[in-house]
Amino acid sequence: TDRARVFSGIQPSGEFHIGNYLGAARQWASMVRDQKEELLFCIVDAHAITVPFEPAELKRRILALTRDLIACGLDPDKCTLFVQSDVPEHTELAWYLAAVTPMGDLGRMTQFKEKSENKDFVSCALFTYPVLMSADILLYKATVVPVGDDQVQHVELARETVRRFNHRFGEIFPEPHPRLSTATRIKGVDGNAKMSKSKNNSIATFSPPDEFWGKLRTAFTDPQRLRKSDPGRPEVCNIYTMHKAVSPEATCNEVYANCTQAKWGCMDCKKVLWENFDRELTPLREKRASLDDDAVRAALAKGAEKARATAKETVTEVRTAMGL
Ligand code: ADP
Ligand code: NA
Repeated sequence: TDRARVFSGIQPSGEFHIGNYLGAARQWASMVRDQKEELLFCIVDAHAITVPFEPAELKRRILALTRDLIACGLDPDKCTLFVQSDVPEHTELAWYLAAVTPMGDLGRMTQFKEKSENKDFVSCALFTYPVLMSADILLYKATVVPVGDDQVQHVELARETVRRFNHRFGEIFPEPHPRLSTATRIKGVDGNAKMSKSKNNSIATFSPPDEFWGKLRTAFTDPQRLRKSDPGRPEVCNIYTMHKAVSPEATCNEVYANCTQAKWGCMDCKKVLWENFDRELTPLREKRASLDDDAVRAALAKGAEKARATAKETVTEVRTAMGL
């Protein structure tokens, strides 16, 4: 077919949070519904081991994340949903690509600088992480890579790698393009600029409603608004950002007016937000409850089989081109 091939990845390194849902999975699900492109979604466990981790925990999280993603609408019959380490060609291709990647380029990656800063142990794998990410994309000759802004630099590196590799060994790979998420970044409940699995500041998408509320209730809002009688600034408030993502427009306007006129307190805005999250998530929770571990494993087995068919072809082509 001539449909564009799209690759996206997510780490099984922590609970699937509402930043992941609003910033990624929700768009992925709409792409799955549209069926305009050929879609690959990869649980990138080989990326998750670049920082300290617990093996039993990782295994549990891979299944949990897969289940969450299917519940969000990543129907395994309509996309290729698979685990990275089920397709060993990812790590094989990463090695071949590493042979054309200058160390200096990796040293310039801002994510590496951030993640390695002040750490006692920094693995080689954390340094070469962007090479594995290039392999993830190029293995399937994907041309579209939906990402958050913090991953754009890695996709640019993948493009450079394509040019270097093709120049040296022949035209094998197409250049991939980042497709920047249009969703606003969700801040952490602690006020941090990004809700993240690794920062312990997230709300798990599928936590029970009372637990969800417990996190939302104490979440940071406008730091300058100390009491209800202070007018709030929705434009800097994470709660308002989330309203814009899940609440109807009329509700967002109501929230905006009542916050800026000091008629509603933060707790009022949070209550309404919680109700709207609940409305959106209820059908997803039901779908999730219908999936047991066996169903999830079966979906992953099918996904790995589909992915491997393409991955093997590419690696054979690459080995031949490189004289291996
Ligand atoms: P995390 O940062 O929690 O480890 P990943 O790096 O695995 O998440 O990212 C998975 C997807 O979720 C990416 O597309 C990323 O852009 C998106 N994402 C992660 N955190 C947020 C957030 N706080 N707001 C919006 N999107 C996010
Ligand atoms: Na991350």
